[in-house]
Amino acid sequence: MEYENRPFYRDTWVEIDLDSISWNLARIKQQLPAETAVIAVVKANAYGHGDYRVAEAALKAGASLLAVAFLDEALTLRDKGIQAPILVLGATRARDARLAAVHHISLTVYEQEWLEEAAACLQPEDRLAVHLKVDTGMGRIGVRDGAELIVLEQLLRADSRFEFEGVYTHFSTADEPDPAYFEAQLALFQERLSLLSGKPKYIHCSNSAAALRYPAAHFNAVRIGIAMYGLAPSSTVEQEVPLPLREAFSLHSRLIHVKKLPKGEKVGYGAAYETAEEEWIGTLPIGYADGWIRRLQGQEVLINGRRAPLVGKICMDQCMVRLPGYTEPGTEVTLIGGQGAGRISVNEIADKLETINYEIPCLIGSRVPRIYKNANEPGCMICTPEDIILVDSAH
Ligand SMILES: Cc1ncc(COP(=O)(O)O)c(C=O)c1O
Repeated sequence: MEYENRPFYRDTWVEIDLDSISWNLARIKQQLPAETAVIAVVKANAYGHGDYRVAEAALKAGASLLAVAFLDEALTLRDKGIQAPILVLGATRARDARLAAVHHISLTVYEQEWLEEAAACLQPEDRLAVHLKVDTGMGRIGVRDGAELIVLEQLLRADSRFEFEGVYTHFSTADEPDPAYFEAQLALFQERLSLLSGKPKYIHCSNSAAALRYPAAHFNAVRIGIAMYGLAPSSTVEQEVPLPLREAFSLHSRLIHVKKLPKGEKVGYGAAYETAEEEWIGTLPIGYADGWIRRLQGQEVLINGRRAPLVGKICMDQCMVRLPGYTEPGTEVTLIGGQGAGRISVNEIADKLETINYEIPCLIGSRVPRIYKNANEPGCMICTPEDIILVDSAH
């Protein structure tokens, strides 16, 4: 691998299967009309998967645009050589509008004052692409009032330094069984669109759930996040849209120490676990500082394809596992993903933590290096864990 060639020395890593990301996006695209543009959502370091590599894979798989939450994330992608159009979905300070224009980064706008302040910062030669964000019921950023939307459009069209590139909204319940609120949001968006004097290049409102469930909400672009990573937005969507997605994220470690403890010995902080009999206990070099948080106490991991429970409290940098018997130090342990016949899904970890699958890969921090697998691109291939020496931990 020819980039970011810094070795790492801890036996804990995330593997990102870029082929799965491309595969997922290709499957999703198949469900959409050919003319529908895909906006690949790579905010939050591509939901913890690694922004740059995912962006590349998504673009190769046919995404037309990338979307991030903050200008900083867009600039990071530019620094890493991504030249594709990027939309910032979140709020950007008006005084940073020029920076966005210089780097050809599209911004989300929903306030007249913002446009006026940005206009004061832009130079005559600048051109800033803007997507107007309509709040149709999410209660987050976005213009709520129809009259204000009309003013925003007029201001954009009156100043040649602005390009009215898109208009969009975001659904709050597209993944839920009851469609009523979704339908109300969609109807309001359509009503707001009718107020515009002309249509911009991109009209988009669908996240993964809406894109997969509601063709009426496609317009001419959809914003795909979670499904691209191989995860269903909710169990409702999973049951309704049987799209075979492939999870791209897996988390691995190794036994760095193995010991036999007699019955009645304590393990971990608070001496919270006591061996019920003579037990083999292994130590893993991952802890809550990596996002493997204390509430994962008792979670099972895979060793030689079989499940084994974490015992004792999870420490900042380490945790302990009860082994079925003596196991060679250095043995690979899978905390998320498949190993042999076993599999621990992202959803299993989300259920354990009583949260949504989105949160899990985001939770695994930047201290854990991301390793990229891409069978079609030899230069980017990391094959077996033994080969893992060149990594991309900076993302
Ligand atoms: C504005 C916006 N659009 C699109 C998405 C992508 O949603 P999903 O990951 O459910 O596809 C998000 C994600 O939170 C978002 O905030």
